[in-house]
Amino acid sequence: MKGLLARTLSLVAAFLLPLVALGQAQGDPSQQFVGDRVCQGCHAEISSDFRRNPHFVSVALGNEPPQRTGCEGCHGPGFLHATSADKEKIVQFTMLAPGEAQNRCLQCHSDDFGKMHIRRSAHLTGEIGCTSCHAIHGSRGASPLLAGEQREVCYACHLGIRARFEMPFKHRVNEGAMECSDCHNPHGAPVATWRMAHSPRMVSPAFGNDQPCTQCHSDKRGPFVHEHVPVRAEGCQSCHDPHGSTNARLLNRPTVFTMCLECHSDITGFGPRAEAIPGPSRYFHNLADPAFRDCVLCHPRIHGSNADRWFRR
Ligand code: HEC
Ligand code: HEC
Ligand code: HEC
Ligand code: HEC
Ligand code: HEC
Ligand code: HEC
Ligand code: HEC
Ligand code: HEC
Ligand code: HEC
Ligand code: HEC
Repeated sequence: MKGLLARTLSLVAAFLLPLVALGQAQGDPSQQFVGDRVCQGCHAEISSDFRRNPHFVSVALGNEPPQRTGCEGCHGPGFLHATSADKEKIVQFTMLAPGEAQNRCLQCHSDDFGKMHIRRSAHLTGEIGCTSCHAIHGSRGASPLLAGEQREVCYACHLGIRARFEMPFKHRVNEGAMECSDCHNPHGAPVATWRMAHSPRMVSPAFGNDQPCTQCHSDKRGPFVHEHVPVRAEGCQSCHDPHGSTNARLLNRPTVFTMCLECHSDITGFGPRAEAIPGPSRYFHNLADPAFRDCVLCHPRIHGSNADRWFRR
């Protein structure tokens, strides 16, 4: 405490008295910027860590206006606080409503391409602001300035998803082979388009407007001469659980044919022409015969085919 007092006093002598004079000379003191060197005097640790922060670039470049430079770029004009050491006289993010805090960040980050849809994302509309996931001073190396390892940040709120990635068949997120952000954009995704299928849950498109899955499973990307309608219209998740499953191939059902029959029921009356999705019972398929239950044995190109409208080759 004594150390702080002594430092404060020497600072007052070295910087602050001249600052007070400056403040009086230049009008409204609550709008005066003092620069990072002044903050450094009292916040030594935060300031020295800040040199490794990507936000230090504004200080290093030295050509940004004061309201976009260093500490005061986020915490606002610091003159009154620096001359009083009163924490009520500076922007304290922990005291701001999530909406106010994110507006401060978006002053600079609203034109990042990946954040185009942030204001109507499920997170921001659910009052989950930037500082719920990002820690500016406390990231301890987790990139990009995250409060911890990415999946742990997400699991703090999405507990149930962790269990899905512990299932016998799963994408290896918990093992570190991929991340939530390979499929999701936590800042919000665009409205789904045709090739994106019906994927509203902040699922981020790949290649502009394709499902994220096709980045890695590129053979499923198509387009195919004969598309299997649900792959495009409802998305991969109409047959697969994207996170994890107790069923092989991450399928939504333990046996393939029960899944097929959920749609291929031959029940009429749906759609604009009230036509049924054709059921296998139409022709020769004999569902009592186990040989006919392995649908993908005869229909292996189930994701789409360039050769056969029944996906047989
Ligand atoms: C004369 C010393 C001094 C200077 C100069 C100074 N601060 Fe502070 N600052 C303090 C003290 C003391 C506190 C209060 C700590 C407490 O009460 O927990 C504080 C608190 C803060 C807080 C609030 C912390 C919280 O609890 O949320 C912020 C933010 C802050 N300072 C930023 C700055 C910035 C930015 C600058 C430079 C513009 C700056 N300070 C300059 C001494 C100073
Ligand atoms: C990119 C925006 C941003 C910049 C730049 C920034 N801060 Fe902060 N600061 C925050 C946020 C957000 C918090 C709230 C705590 C958190 O999320 O880490 C905070 C918290 C603080 C606190 C109080 C909490 C603590 O960790 O002790 C102090 C003091 C502080 N900042 C000082 C500074 C100083 C000094 C600088 C310049 C070296 C600076 N800040 C630069 C955003 C910023
Ligand atoms: C004064 C402008 C400004 C403000 C305000 C600002 N940032 Fe930044 N931010 C930047 C700049 C400049 C960079 C560096 C960009 C780069 O390297 O391409 C950056 C980088 C980042 C990064 C990326 C780090 C990385 O490793 O790629 C994150 C995350 C970030 N900011 C979050 C925030 C958050 C959260 C806030 C609000 C608390 C905030 N920023 C406020 C200008 C700002
Ligand atoms: C739900 C958690 C979450 C929230 C809320 C969040 N972010 Fe992020 N942010 C992330 C994750 C995770 C990444 C890393 C994404 C990646 O690696 O592709 C990231 C990356 C970034 C980056 C660097 C990469 C890029 O996309 O430019 C910046 C800058 C950034 N966030 C700023 C912000 C700002 C500003 C806000 C608030 C308006 C915010 N974030 C809100 C989780 C979040
Ligand atoms: C601080 C809590 C919090 C954190 C951290 C968080 N989320 Fe969320 N998330 C929410 C809330 C609240 C909602 C909206 C309510 C809901 O639909 O469950 C949500 C919704 C979502 C949704 C569903 C969107 C929809 O349209 O239904 C996805 C996907 C998601 N979050 C992914 C992530 C990812 C990925 C991360 C880590 C980068 C993350 N979240 C971190 C709280 C959080
Ligand atoms: C392989 C791609 C992929 C990965 C990796 C992934 N997700 Fe998802 N996630 C999806 C898809 C696709 C949906 C949409 C499912 C639907 O609409 O039926 C979804 C839906 C969600 C939802 C909303 C629906 C639900 O099941 O509650 C949340 C929340 C969510 N994901 C969180 C996460 C988190 C957290 C992580 C990382 C730990 C993660 N996801 C990793 C693809 C992925
Ligand atoms: C970042 C790359 C990546 C993305 C994106 C991705 N996957 Fe995967 N996927 C893999 C890898 C790698 C495996 C192999 C399984 C493992 O990791 O053990 C896999 C396995 C699978 C399997 C099981 C294959 C088998 O032979 O058992 C299915 C089904 C699958 N993914 C579907 C999807 C769907 C649906 C999506 C989109 C929601 C998706 N994947 C997104 C990389 C990815
Ligand atoms: C109509 C249901 C259906 C849809 C929609 C679907 N799949 Fe599949 N998928 C299957 C079935 C059934 C299998 C199992 C095939 C087998 O066992 O031989 C499978 C197997 C897979 C496999 C593992 C075997 C292989 O062929 O590589 C991957 C990877 C895969 N699907 C990815 C995807 C992706 C990515 C999408 C979205 C573009 C998607 N699936 C959409 C039904 C579907
Ligand atoms: C989510 C619903 C859904 C699931 C699950 C599904 N399909 Fe389909 N399938 C469709 C729709 C819709 C069509 C297009 C029907 C049309 O054009 O009249 C179609 C078309 C087909 C066709 C071509 C029919 C024709 O006359 O052109 C075959 C063959 C087929 N599916 C086989 C399968 C098999 C095998 C499975 C299980 C692995 C399966 N489907 C799972 C919805 C589904
Ligand atoms: C022994 C091979 C074989 C098996 C097993 C098989 N199919 Fe087929 N399926 C065919 C052939 C061949 C056709 C093309 C019929 C034709 O030429 O008119 C066909 C056609 C279809 C059609 C299109 C019917 C129409 O009216 O357009 C659907 C739907 C279908 N099968 C679904 C399934 C489902 C679901 C299963 C699993 C329960 C299954 N098939 C199992 C060989 C098979």
